[in-house]
Amino acid sequence: MLEVKHLKVEFISHGKSIAPVDEVSFTVGANETVGLLGESGCGKSVTALSILRLFPLASKVRLSGSVTYQGRDLLTVDDADLRAIRGKQIAMIFQEPMTSLNPLQKIGAQLGEMLRMHTALSRSERDSKVIAMLQRVGLSRAEQLVNEYPHSLSGGMRQRVMIAMALLCDPGILICDEPTTALDVTIQAQILDLMRQLKQEQGTSILMITHDLGVVAEMCERVIVMYAGQVVEQSSVRDLFDAPAHPYTQALMRARPALDATPGQRLTAIPGSVPPPGMAGAGCRFAARCAKADDICREQMPALTEVASGHLARCWYPN
Ligand SMILES: Nc1ncnc2c1ncn2[C@@H]1O[C@H](COP(=O)(O)OP(=O)(O)OP(=O)(O)O)[C@@H](O)[C@H]1O
Ligand SMILES: [Mg+2]
Repeated sequence: MLEVKHLKVEFISHGKSIAPVDEVSFTVGANETVGLLGESGCGKSVTALSILRLFPLASKVRLSGSVTYQGRDLLTVDDADLRAIRGKQIAMIFQEPMTSLNPLQKIGAQLGEMLRMHTALSRSERDSKVIAMLQRVGLSRAEQLVNEYPHSLSGGMRQRVMIAMALLCDPGILICDEPTTALDVTIQAQILDLMRQLKQEQGTSILMITHDLGVVAEMCERVIVMYAGQVVEQSSVRDLFDAPAHPYTQALMRARPALDATPGQRLTAIPGSVPPPGMAGAGCRFAARCAKADDICREQMPALTEVASGHLARCWYPN
């Protein structure tokens, strides 16, 4: 469905370039939910933004590698083609819905505009489709909501509106960048349920970006673990939880609260922090934080290699 190959993203400023995403490769299959997991700053959002080339206007970006969707490389299609693909074939949901909703436009008009751009439906067909979609994502007052502005909605409702907008044109792939991080846990569970249900009904593939192992366990079939701009592990969700191969993935698992933990028991935080782009040495980028690291780890970059069938890890000493 979607194949990202050797994706490298470089931001250029003052004649220097930094690469927060460095040779990242992965695929998202038909009807599959793939998790993109990693700590803050490891390049998850930049990866997602480069798929649709949605960078802030002011940033100077150089993209290399390829992002193939339905036989076409999205990194090289022209702007008009890309606009036709955005929203229609590949839709995106962000962590903070207010960044993608226009505060000055009523909900109904924003969703209607999406359909006007991408379909040949008449005004009244668009209106009824918008209301039907808002109802489908669990917004009960849909007829009134279309006449309201985004700021009058709660965070959970806004995220539902975003999901409605994303699914309106029946996209083949939905890219979700931390879609529930800003919501409280009960609303988060409702939104994840809704996404699972809609995925079943609509057969959409999902790329789910998260730093939350719980979201991965609940939503995904496969998972890509990123660290400092690189893929460090890739496997089925089951294999990742049963036998994490990379010390970074193992550390992420230890850093999250267990259900059977005794009260007061401390979590094992990962010491140190993700090296900013360009600051990692020549060796494994996790070496400075890894208990297993020795000279070879600090000096030579390990390749992403198969440790079991369908299970890849970038480590000199995988589990
Ligand atoms: N437009 C930009 N110009 C320059 N650097 C950028 C730009 N956008 C992101 N970066 C840098 O790229 C790196 C990766 O950022 P990214 O937002 O992809 O991380 P992330 O994994 O999504 O983290 P989080 O979990 O906090 O969302 C960071 O060091 C960030 O400062
Ligand atoms: Mg992010």
